[in-house]
Amino acid sequence: MKHQLAIVLNLGGPHAQIVARRVRECGVYCEVYPYNVGAERIAQMAPNGIIVTGGLTEVPEGRKTRAPWLDDLGIPVLEVGTGTALSIESLSGGVGKNCLENFLTVTCDFSCDWSIKDFLDSAIQEVRNQVGDGKVLLGLSGGVDSSVLAALLSKAIGSNLVCIFVDTGLMRKNEGDEVEAAFADRDMTFVRVNAETKFLYKLLGVNDPEKKRKIIGEEFIRVFEEEALKFGKIDFLAQGTIYPDIIESGGDDAQVVKSHHNVGGLPDTMSFKGLVEPLKYLFKDEVRVLAAELGLPDSLVNRQPFPGPGLAVRCIGSITKERLDILRDADAIFRDEMAKSGMSKMANQYFAIITDTRSTGVRNEKRTYEYTICLRAVKTVDFMTAEWVEIPFSLIRTISRRITTEVANVNRVLYDITDKPPATIEWE
Ligand code: XMP
Repeated sequence: MKHQLAIVLNLGGPHAQIVARRVRECGVYCEVYPYNVGAERIAQMAPNGIIVTGGLTEVPEGRKTRAPWLDDLGIPVLEVGTGTALSIESLSGGVGKNCLENFLTVTCDFSCDWSIKDFLDSAIQEVRNQVGDGKVLLGLSGGVDSSVLAALLSKAIGSNLVCIFVDTGLMRKNEGDEVEAAFADRDMTFVRVNAETKFLYKLLGVNDPEKKRKIIGEEFIRVFEEEALKFGKIDFLAQGTIYPDIIESGGDDAQVVKSHHNVGGLPDTMSFKGLVEPLKYLFKDEVRVLAAELGLPDSLVNRQPFPGPGLAVRCIGSITKERLDILRDADAIFRDEMAKSGMSKMANQYFAIITDTRSTGVRNEKRTYEYTICLRAVKTVDFMTAEWVEIPFSLIRTISRRITTEVANVNRVLYDITDKPPATIEWE
């Protein structure tokens, strides 16, 4: 059954996503469209209500008022934003929320019972309609989006889903096994490619950050493609595109290739009938709710953002298995202590870096010359700017002592006290 629809019409300004989130929190499914979408298209979609965002003072030059055709549609309209009765700020408070709820339930007669379970049911049906008995290829990274995508497609098409997980050897401690464990028992064609040796060979002696990224991106495509070709003709490619990717790119249902995507774009020697993107109308936190609905483990649901090139960007200088293992062990201790102390709630991303500095130390009355590990924890809303987190000294001391006693070849631990800007979050 198709659920009722509200449309958020964006006249400009940055608030359409926030408004759409609030509408969905009221149990009403909504989609965001730019102001120039046109009357005809809106009429076809037959929404029960329209919410116009980007108040009168934020409307782009030359569009001082809302389009006259909006009133001709005969669909209730609510305006939100500066210069209107309902401001963005008030939407988070009781009065604004009541006003929105009142519009949705009384004025538009929405039943307000949309839930992620409804979304899942209709997404499964839509995927089945789209792909029939065709095969779908998915590059699984272990991140939240691709994991949810894999679990959803498994429910929809079972073994016609060909899920390829390339283990680059650049993942965190035990992560490769955790990803495999989460999917091995699901109904799909699951392949884990252990490509550590290949990646480390290609990265041998490469210290330049940009070169590292380029090599990893290219090798990823090569390994992924080589594996995919073993399955013969594959009809569709699945992508974990989510709603902010689409809204931010200005499209409505434009097919956006995620530029920062771990799969690095489409393998160009393979041709597909089309893309399968069932998450493209979901916000990030809705993807997490869906993950729980699909029974994915907490470690995947609450996974921190992790860069596509993996630990390579946290292994400064040469990348070797020895240095990666040291980094993995130190990082695991850091994460363990952050979780145990509850400090993990204060940071949006935290991790260890192995620097290219070695320094003198003393252990068992003998001189050492060992690696320096740096710890970084940041708080951020959008990852464009970030503040370093004030972890209690006592906790830093505990972590430092654990790392220097439990991890061989590390005799010094630092804590990064730099915001972004001027630093980036990652070191490379
Ligand atoms: P920076 O270091 O630019 O990072 O402040 C901002 C956020 O992006 C993540 N990041 C990446 N993610 N591929 C990704 O998928 C990458 O190459 C990449 N580089 C950085 C970083 O972890 C942080 O969350």
